[in-house]
Amino acid sequence: DPYRIDIVTIFPEYLAPLGQSLLGKAAERGLVTIGVHDLRQWTDDVHRTVDDAPYGGGPGMVMKPEPWGRALDAVRPPGTRLVVPTPAGRLFTQAMATAWAAEPGLVFACGRYEGIDQRVADWAAHAGPVSEVSIGDYVLAGGESAVLVMVEAVTRLLPGVVGNRESVEFDSHADGLLEGPAYTRPASWRGHEVPPVLLSGDHAAIARWRRAESLRRTATRRPDLLARAALTEADRALLDG
Ligand code: ADE
Repeated sequence: DPYRIDIVTIFPEYLAPLGQSLLGKAAERGLVTIGVHDLRQWTDDVHRTVDDAPYGGGPGMVMKPEPWGRALDAVRPPGTRLVVPTPAGRLFTQAMATAWAAEPGLVFACGRYEGIDQRVADWAAHAGPVSEVSIGDYVLAGGESAVLVMVEAVTRLLPGVVGNRESVEFDSHADGLLEGPAYTRPASWRGHEVPPVLLSGDHAAIARWRRAESLRRTATRRPDLLARAALTEADRALLDG
């Protein structure tokens, strides 16, 4: 069966990019099925109300639980992970993308305003795993763009979606380090040269150089990642050298 993704939102048009590019092709090829659902179809008043003032006071509006309950009853297969994008979530990582890609599918609940009544995520845990996740330490206007990010990160890991398995296995973050620089022809361009080792044909030397660049780049740009990476003695020698 194809990997199944369902997204509930009050802005279904915002998810139109999912029909494009890598993802659109994966859908055409039957590798993934994506359903986008308008939350307002599960409202029960003439104004199709999805939000209300927060208990306890404060700015903004909170999404009401009832439409969400009915939406999830309708679209979430039992046991399927529910992902709720929120700036107050755990940070989304490549490790999560890898784990989620091994599951049968995902359901995303996009909040707007000041978020969704907390009881929705709490109640939804009875039927399967619930992940409240943030894509980074900044605040978006809603979860839709975060869903685009997470859907792309997960689906490119599905078998057959990306042609070259190696381009997925050797990605930045796949081994906890950043990828080093890449070059193509011409060897000399506007006074900038391709590092000569890449033209040497010495595959062992090239592999060593790439590892050193990856370690050096991670040390300068993401020391937090380097601190948690499993480094060999050879890696430490490359870093010091
Ligand atoms: N909604 C608003 N900001 C967000 C973020 N940083 N990540 C996920 N969802 C969000």
